[in-house]
Amino acid sequence: MDVSRVNEYIESFYSLINKEEKIENLSQNLKVGVDLGTANIVISVLDENNKPITGMLYPASVVRDGLVVDYIKAVEIVKKLKLRIEKMLGVNLEYSATAVPPGTIDGNAKVIANVIEAAEMEVIKIIDEPTAAAKVLGIMDGVVVDVGGGTTGISILKDGKVIHTADEPTGGVHMSLVLAGSYNISFDEAEKMKKDRRREKEIFHVVRPVIEKMVSIVKKHIEGYSIDKIYVVGGACSFAQFENIFSNKLGIETVKPKRPLLVTPLGIAQSCEK
Ligand SMILES: Nc1ncnc2c1ncn2[C@@H]1O[C@H](COP(=O)(O)OP(=O)(O)OP(=O)(O)O)[C@@H](O)[C@H]1O
Ligand SMILES: [Mg+2]
Repeated sequence: MDVSRVNEYIESFYSLINKEEKIENLSQNLKVGVDLGTANIVISVLDENNKPITGMLYPASVVRDGLVVDYIKAVEIVKKLKLRIEKMLGVNLEYSATAVPPGTIDGNAKVIANVIEAAEMEVIKIIDEPTAAAKVLGIMDGVVVDVGGGTTGISILKDGKVIHTADEPTGGVHMSLVLAGSYNISFDEAEKMKKDRRREKEIFHVVRPVIEKMVSIVKKHIEGYSIDKIYVVGGACSFAQFENIFSNKLGIETVKPKRPLLVTPLGIAQSCEK
């Protein structure tokens, strides 16, 4: 994996997020990804060579760990974001790819697809989230750990194939819950505090045990496999020291790309091929 190229790529997508500038002369074959996450809904649009064209990120709690908990609102948000993008680009988004956490059963994946189809996009591909992330990272081997809002998803890849997956309920939401308890503040205030990089040093001792719990989850799942590298993605690993806790505790090199929250959404759009 060429970290600096991957970082440059993610950064080029980041600079386009939620910018509503008109774009003209687009290639016809756009690739679209819809990530219905626990904390965020992200729509990513790439050209046929995977170059980022635009992206919309919308905080929402309509899906929880791959399960749709508010179907109507989920459809409404996807529809709204789709319309905004269509207005910017002057084209209709007719199809997309989406992703589900590893191990999601077929029926639940179908509900995710139904949300997108109700927003009038045909779903041409459903992949699992870590496979999407691995595409962006350009890796064939290693462990992808996706720490989102609700869960820590673990996927072990060998020769480009996923050979083991797990998804366990510890994520960014749990970090905010411990912060809320520790500082006696509301969940929303804790979310804000958690994302304020200026306060990272001050609050890190409270969040650290949650990260250590994530390490222990990963440790349990990689036992018996020979692992050279761990790649951490997902919004909850944004803390500066996150990957160091992993590498120190596990003794395995741990890599975190820039803007880890955007890796899986980008990979979903990359997989949008018939
Ligand atoms: N700068 C930041 N610092 C710390 N945590 C952050 C930061 N930005 C986002 N997060 C946290 O990351 C989580 C969202 O990450 P992400 O968008 O990857 O999750 P998701 O895909 O919506 O959830 P899941 O994959 O579990 O369904 C939230 O808990 C959010 O508070
Ligand atoms: Mg996610």
